[in-house]
Amino acid sequence: MNKEKFYITTPIYYPSDKLHIGHAYTTTVADSLARWYKFCGKDVRFLTGSDEHGQKIQRIANEKGVTPQHYVDEIVASFKELWKRMNIEYDDFIRTTEPRHVRAVQEVFRRIYAKGDIYKSKYKGWYCTPCESFWLENRLEDGKCPDCQRPVELVEEESYFFKISKYQDQLLHHIETHPEFIQPETRRNEMVNFIKSGLEDLCVSRTTFDWGIPVPIDENHVIYVWFDALTNYLTAIGFPDDEKQLNTWWPADLHLVGKEIMRFHTIIWPIILLALELPLPKTVFGHGWLLFDDDKMSKSKGNVVDPNALIDEFGVDPIRYFLLREISFGQDGNFNRRALIERTNSDLANDLGNLLNRSLAMLNKYFDGVVPNPDKLQDVDCELKQFAKDTKDKVVRLIDELAISDALAALWQLIGRANKYIDETAPWALAKDAADHQRLSTVMYNLIEVQRIIALLVKSFIPETGVKIWQQLGINDALDDQLLENTDWGGLQPGTRTKKGDPIFPRIEFKEKVEAKTAESGKSQKQPQVKAISDENLISIDDFAKLDLVIAQVLTAEPVKKADKLLKLTIDTGGDQRQIVAGIAQHYQPDDLIGKNIVIVANLKPAKLRGELSQGMLLAATSADGTLEVVSVSNKIKPGSRVK
Ligand code: MSP
Repeated sequence: MNKEKFYITTPIYYPSDKLHIGHAYTTTVADSLARWYKFCGKDVRFLTGSDEHGQKIQRIANEKGVTPQHYVDEIVASFKELWKRMNIEYDDFIRTTEPRHVRAVQEVFRRIYAKGDIYKSKYKGWYCTPCESFWLENRLEDGKCPDCQRPVELVEEESYFFKISKYQDQLLHHIETHPEFIQPETRRNEMVNFIKSGLEDLCVSRTTFDWGIPVPIDENHVIYVWFDALTNYLTAIGFPDDEKQLNTWWPADLHLVGKEIMRFHTIIWPIILLALELPLPKTVFGHGWLLFDDDKMSKSKGNVVDPNALIDEFGVDPIRYFLLREISFGQDGNFNRRALIERTNSDLANDLGNLLNRSLAMLNKYFDGVVPNPDKLQDVDCELKQFAKDTKDKVVRLIDELAISDALAALWQLIGRANKYIDETAPWALAKDAADHQRLSTVMYNLIEVQRIIALLVKSFIPETGVKIWQQLGINDALDDQLLENTDWGGLQPGTRTKKGDPIFPRIEFKEKVEAKTAESGKSQKQPQVKAISDENLISIDDFAKLDLVIAQVLTAEPVKKADKLLKLTIDTGGDQRQIVAGIAQHYQPDDLIGKNIVIVANLKPAKLRGELSQGMLLAATSADGTLEVVSVSNKIKPGSRVK
């Protein structure tokens, strides 16, 4: 049987420093997708690696007084250690200093040169060493690199040039006829505009330093580091010697990259492939940045988050889960400790961890830890079973769309549904009467069965947790052999002896108190005065742009227990659902809110109010007599629309 193949790659990272949480982000997503598609039965190849040549690395090594090779060897070892700690299961790790890669890059150069697409000339222009990119004067912004806003250097040297302008129209045609090629769509538009503004031939060799792969026809030149680096995707599948392997895996199915290197992957890389007459990758996905307190992480700003320190403190799965769940894939997202702790406590410790703990404790009590035989299903059981099936289908679809955060949200709805099933069926009540023994057996079977399915569906994203749940469920079949088809209801064998263990996610205590910001909108009874315009209270348009004001539709509304001012709302923010808690209970009956299109601050740090997670804040105004009105718009405006 021929399995469908899936070749996925991450960027190969510069060993210019240790990796930070931003690099871990891309790699965690790639690892989760690779695991997921293996689970779906595909033949997967997952490649990552290190981009070791270039002026930047040579300079750092010189500063440290070691050879570049010595320098990169040490850092690359730390890359591999980090990936091991994060449970990154790559199939190959490519280093651009390996002989197989040197051979591949020289062959690419040779072929394109032989075709007449590379010629020798002189380069005079600007160079950004941190980005390793050439810039013409007219593309600079305030004389700085338009990508990273750092200073550029004037470079004047003899170079080989690649006639990329020759392929401009062919590339545009490909982009237009293959909408899946560049994703998400906003990045496609950016790239199309860039190409349409006119491509200049690209310098593909350097002579002012020597830490690179020699140009095969001219030993005075080393090959430009991006030309070298991009070729890694071919080297790792046997180019140029192993045709069979190459044909098996090429074209790549998914190159995952950060948005700042889309230009290299969607313009230069495809043009290299067009010149080689090789097919283009199916999809290049440019994801957003992980920001730290709304700012890009960088060493010079001193706001770099070290993944090793986080793993020491929280363990690996809370970090994997946070990265995958908290950030909408494709958009920028914030890394922040508080949000990480909130997510871990609410989703992992409360929802997932408690479900397992409660269920196994009851199974121990009522059945000595052994899974009983189920009897006839009642409506509530059928509902749970259907929910599990629908969730699986939804997750499959959402992952195919690379809507990873939404896929996890859907999975957590199933976990929520399973928790609700316990409350609905009340096994403790059934256990009181021997006449209900069959019913109790069915309920307990279903409860363990749904967690078998949950373990299978979450294991690609939080692999260590998948293993822990599986062990506690006591299932003998190897978890690694389980595939998507094993998530059909009924796979759990009655008679399985479970092994209740410690809670899989102990709660993390906050050191500081969580502010109840979201509740404050209903507190003030006084009419606040609008401040007069003065220099101190003016904000810039950039400050305003930091607020993500979104239209959301209220789906459900209910009081929060033991909090007479709070209502908790489930809202639709246009394809995503979330919960917010607002201090409006004394002004609204819950039912009056349902269906309303309200305005929320969508990027407010989540907070817990009376134990309820609030992911955002609604806007409201208070009149002079203290009545409060929630800001709303008509239903003509769709949920998810931005307020500008
Ligand atoms: N060596 C090149 C890539 C060559 S690929 C043929 C390079 N390396 S890098 O070390 O700078 O890594 C950049 C990549 O790391 C980004 O494209 C992204 O995948 C990841 N990230 C680095 N910082 C990041 C954030 N702050 N947020 C999200 N991803 C980040 O560019």
